[in-house]
Parts: sequence; structure tokens; C-alpha cells
Amino acid sequence: MTDNLLLIDTAAGIRTIRINRPDKLNALNADTLDALDAAFAAADHDPEVRVVVLTGAGPKVFVAGADISEMNTLTPVQGRDFSLRGTRMMRRVETLSKPVIAMVNGFALGGGLELAMCCHLRIAADTAKVGQPEINLGLIPGFGGSQRLLRLCGRAATLELCLTGAPINAERALQLGIVNRVVPVAELESAVMQLAGQLAKAAPLALRGMLDCVNIGGECGIEEGLEYESAQFGLMFATEDMREGTSAFLEKRTPTFAGK
Ligand code: COA
Repeated sequence: MTDNLLLIDTAAGIRTIRINRPDKLNALNADTLDALDAAFAAADHDPEVRVVVLTGAGPKVFVAGADISEMNTLTPVQGRDFSLRGTRMMRRVETLSKPVIAMVNGFALGGGLELAMCCHLRIAADTAKVGQPEINLGLIPGFGGSQRLLRLCGRAATLELCLTGAPINAERALQLGIVNRVVPVAELESAVMQLAGQLAKAAPLALRGMLDCVNIGGECGIEEGLEYESAQFGLMFATEDMREGTSAFLEKRTPTFAGK
């Protein structure tokens, strides 16, 4: 069922996952949600993979949302299950032990923006548009959009996007803190691959520790969060990578991190 729904390749530690339903603007149906879940689980467990890039096939969309034709006939119980299916997959992305970069190559609407927000970094083409248009369908976000948008950019912007349903352009998304960077569309792939290449060479266990500090420590009170960071910091002294990184600095050479 998952054949060709995703195009996956790996080079130099960078796994690229491309959602591939261009005729449906990469809309997330149940099979695509499951394929993504399996693809991210595989990336997590594969020691060859240091960083994941997620994007959409075709020239104009990242993802145009959850699949509206599939949702049209759902019962309340099925609707809840559909939401849980997407939410579990997106939580897997968010808590992955390796950095995930969303290459936002065009429209990221509804479930598309929700998916991009689970990624750790978002680089958008200057032609991209993002939004939570569910209100126009008599719906609300169902894959965590209300919660992640709130945490990324606060109440005012969350309510503006979710109550109006109007998409915003990449520059406004940058102003609101929804994306990290905006680049000309022709330079998107090279900008993302440059960043991915940098992360693929970084110390994997330190990257993981940092992701955990934000994912776990960031949801606690300040005392618990600081305590969590200290514990993660201490853990780094058990790694060969920390000895390599500090020694390389002192020896004025470039470190090589093995993820040990
Ligand atoms: N679910 C299912 N199918 C979708 C879809 C979605 N979220 N978004 C687009 N498609 C389908 C269209 O139905 C159409 O299929 P068809 O050729 O069989 O009729 C095809 O993708 C192309 O879409 P179209 O609307 O013709 O492209 P466009 O360039 O005119 O518009 C968008 C692009 C993104 C503005 C428009 O497709 C759109 O608004 N999509 C829905 C966005 C949305 O509400 N997302 C939240 C869902 S909860």
C-alpha cells in the first residue's frame, strides 16, 4: 500500500523523504500517514542516517493538508482515529533522535503545516504559503496544529491563522517564527542540503541530547528543565565524541564524530 507514496534516498548521512502524491497535492491520506510513520521509524533506527530532510514531490506543494476526500465520510470515531493516527506519526517525527529539516517547497496547509511544525527546523521557499484552513471546511486542526502553532508563535498568531483560515506567505511566516529561514525557490534545495550536510557531520549524541532538552526539558517548569539540561550535559562526558570534539579544538584540527 505504501509503494511510491514516498520517495526515499540516502546520501552522505542525509535521508531525504519526499511525499509523492503530486496529483493530490501530496494530501495526507491514511496510507501516507502510515508510510511516513514507517519511514521515520526506519530512519531513527538506521545508524547510517544522521539527519532527515522531509519535503513534497512536485513543484508547488509541500503538503496541501489531510486528505479531504477521505475525511468527507468519516464517523466521529473514525475521525478521532484518523487524528490519532496522524498525531502519533507526527509525535514520532518531533521526538526523533536525529534532526529533521522540513524543506517547505510550496503550499504547507492544514496537515502540511502541522507536519512541518513537527520537524525541528523549517526552511521555506520564498514562494511557499502556509496556513491552517480547516475552518473553511467546518473543521479545526487535528494533527496538533493548535498546540504546536501556539508554542511556536503564541496566541495572537495562532488564533489569526486558525480562526481566519487564510494562508500567509513565507516572509510573514518568518516574521511570526513559524519558519527558520526563507530562501529564493531556486536555492531551496542547495540551502537545505548545506544545512543537512552540516548537521550530518555534527556529534550525533550531542544533537540528540539537545533535541531531548527542547522536547522534554522545554515542556517542564524551569527548575525541572534546568535539571534535565544538567543531566544531559553530564551524560555527554560519557561519549567518545565529547573527547574527540574537545581534543580536536585543543589540537587545532577538524573533529570527526562517530556517534559513540
Ligand atoms: N485533500 C484531498 N485532495 C486535495 C487536497 C486535500 N487536502 N488538496 C488538493 N487536493 C486535490 C484536488 O481535489 C485536486 O484533485 P482533482 O484533480 O482530482 O480534482 C488536486 O489536488 C489539485 O488541487 P487544486 O485545488 O485543483 O489545485 P490548485 O492549484 O487550484 O489549488 C490549493 C491549490 C492548495 C490552494 C488547493 O488545492 C486547496 O485549497 N487545497 C485544500 C487545502 C486545505 O484545505 N487543507 C486542509 C485540509 S484539512
